[in-house]
Amino acid sequence: MSTTTIAPEILKQMAKSASSAYENAYCPYSKYPVGAAILTNDGAIVNGCNVENAVYVVIHAEENAIGNAITKGHRVFQAVLVLSKDGEASPCGICRQKLYEHAKEMPVFTTNPNGEIIHQWLLSELLPHAFGPHNLKESPNESP
Ligand code: THU
Ligand code: ZN
Repeated sequence: MSTTTIAPEILKQMAKSASSAYENAYCPYSKYPVGAAILTNDGAIVNGCNVENAVYVVIHAEENAIGNAITKGHRVFQAVLVLSKDGEASPCGICRQKLYEHAKEMPVFTTNPNGEIIHQWLLSELLPHAFGPHNLKESPNESP
């Protein structure tokens, strides 16, 4: 359980944002919609949903939210919320690594469609001993 706090009002806004992405999820194969919302360091909330296709190359909700944040110029993240029907969708291993690029200790929340928090962890608990930019001291010469 994470001890980092995010104001309840902000969490509510994140859940609302994740919910509107969840409603747009394109998942005819798995029938498992997911919405994600990222709170960026400068206070923006950016969302994403999962997108599937007939060759099963899936984009996860978190990946779309990350891409959306980067596209909008937000490179450092404060928190992420993942919304699914039972609130049990925690970020997969690949998404944990992708999130780690932009935040080391941030809280990760999972919620159900009512916005009720089901789990809360720190990213460092979900991805201990992560490989990251610090391992590549020579490159990239750009930090997130
Ligand atoms: N999925 C996500 O988008 N994020 C998660 O945290 C877990 C799984 C998606 C991928 C796929 O479209 C569906 O959920 C079932 O795996
Ligand atoms: Zn994933």
